[in-house]
Amino acid sequence: MTAATLATAAQEPNTSTPAAVPRHVALVMDGNGRWAKQRYMPRYFGHKSGVDALVRVINTFADRGVEYLTVFAFSSENWKRPADEVSGLMGLVLVSVSKYLTKLAGDGVRIRIVGDREAVSEKLRKAWDHAEEITKHNTRINLSVAFNYGGRWDVMQACRQALAEGLPPEQLTEDWLSGRMAMAFAPDPDLFIRTGGEMRISNFLLWQTAYSELFFTECLWPDFGIAEIDAAFAAYARRERRFGTLRPSVAAPEAS
Ligand code: FPP
Repeated sequence: MTAATLATAAQEPNTSTPAAVPRHVALVMDGNGRWAKQRYMPRYFGHKSGVDALVRVINTFADRGVEYLTVFAFSSENWKRPADEVSGLMGLVLVSVSKYLTKLAGDGVRIRIVGDREAVSEKLRKAWDHAEEITKHNTRINLSVAFNYGGRWDVMQACRQALAEGLPPEQLTEDWLSGRMAMAFAPDPDLFIRTGGEMRISNFLLWQTAYSELFFTECLWPDFGIAEIDAAFAAYARRERRFGTLRPSVAAPEAS
């Protein structure tokens, strides 16, 4: 199966999943720093509590029927943060992998890392390779950790592949590009959740969220739990997804 066919297959709606449950949730875990500040603690403490919150909620997402959960752990732009915060986050990922990998693997979580791996240390790359390898047969939920990821980077690296392969312009299609992007293995996110009160996408899955439903909450990420998931899913269930088409009653009004 080519990458393009794979992407097309992944875009097909899963008719066995009830409409009210998003098949794929994208998550921006914002507010760790403020959460820590409220407790007079360093920002690292907020990020550490953020990892604990993530591990806590994965099972809830899986139990609700979510098949793909994609979290923004470190953006292409996060390198601009103070050096000690950047190195703290890198260290935190290593510690978290060794602390939680056995649990996540036992819970049936398949882990993938998406993003530009070039700039991260070899130690971190090996930890990710290991996490991906030992969870690759798990099917309960797909956890994708976006690390050194940016939506613009993703579009650009896919375009670079087209150029490198000498693809004629008329053969460059949306499906072709989708098949070369970091999330080619997954359907597009149905629901995009951002915590921490900011209402923006911040260069997360720009291409893939074209038709995602957006949900923003003031809740700071380390406090995120079942109540917020319920609120997000309830809002999602009320949305009418039209993907650019008309509402059925407008497209074909009943004869009176
Ligand atoms: C945004 O909060 C959060 C981040 C930049 C990092 C999120 C990362 C984690 C929760 C760790 C992920 C690690 C693994 C292993 C998945 P912020 O610091 O911008 O918060 P603020 O807006 O309150 O300052």
